[in-house]
Amino acid sequence: MRVITSVAAVQEAALGWRRKGVRVAFVPTMGYLHAGHISLVKRGRRLVGAQGLVIVSIFVNPAQFSPTEDLARYPRDLARDKKLCRAAGTDVLFVPSEKQMYPHGFSTYVVEDKLSQGMEGASRPTHFRGVATVVLKLFNLVLPEVAVFGAKDFQQAALLRRMARDLNVPVKIVLAPTVRERDGLAMSSRNKYLEGALRTQAVVLSEALAKARQAISNGHAVSATDLQRELKHFIEQQPAARVDYIEFFHPDTLEKVEQVGRDAHMALAVFIGNTRLIDNAPLRGGKI
Ligand code: PAJ
Repeated sequence: MRVITSVAAVQEAALGWRRKGVRVAFVPTMGYLHAGHISLVKRGRRLVGAQGLVIVSIFVNPAQFSPTEDLARYPRDLARDKKLCRAAGTDVLFVPSEKQMYPHGFSTYVVEDKLSQGMEGASRPTHFRGVATVVLKLFNLVLPEVAVFGAKDFQQAALLRRMARDLNVPVKIVLAPTVRERDGLAMSSRNKYLEGALRTQAVVLSEALAKARQAISNGHAVSATDLQRELKHFIEQQPAARVDYIEFFHPDTLEKVEQVGRDAHMALAVFIGNTRLIDNAPLRGGKI
């Protein structure tokens, strides 16, 4: 596995691969890798085959954190991440510095205006501007044919797909399923913050998704407001849990639905103590 830390070096390498017709799959991450990230690496390998290259980036992107968020304490362990990437069959690990990605005087940002409005965008106003900007930069550096994103961050993937379409970026965006712990908790680097009783209470997010599926399992749609109220009450029975949002929407447009049926998608954000967790799922289906 080759480790590259400079933007010039990765772009030069990428231009070389493109000239030679080598297929490139790309998995952008912020590190502190877990089985969810690794599933994306393996999906990337399947997409480009043994002759292709799988590139992983690790960059904790300051532009997507607000001043009150956890940038400084975001978990990092590059030595462990390198081992995990190597074991998963990564060909190139790109680990740029903040200075390389945001040189002095940096002043150009990518703003998506529609899909970024609700949910994560409403709770974290500059978040998606930071995500879209860094991901477009990474696409321009790595020049991938295909990039793999996790369904765990459903809105992020929808917005990046829209960005690639709107700005004519020649990359295919592939969405891979959310990988969960045995009890249903969606894997996340931020789960490291959950100690003791908080970890136990965090399972309430996936339980709420399952409960929503159950609520419409007889085929009758239910009112979004009623279901929201019921699920908020259910979640906040956990002493450390506080709901940020619960939304029901159309999975392609992210437009809210008033009547929740089996075609709807649900997403939620919940504080468990000081840790903000997100999860989502289509409502067609049984257990999460
Ligand atoms: P990060 O949170 O590290 O996630 C990197 C990728 O892993 C994203 O596509 C995310 O959806 C996916 N992922 C995270 N948890 C997952 C899980 N449990 N199952 C499946 N996939 C999972 O998302 C980001 O970083 C950043 O915003 C980034 C896109 C790298 C831009 O900075």
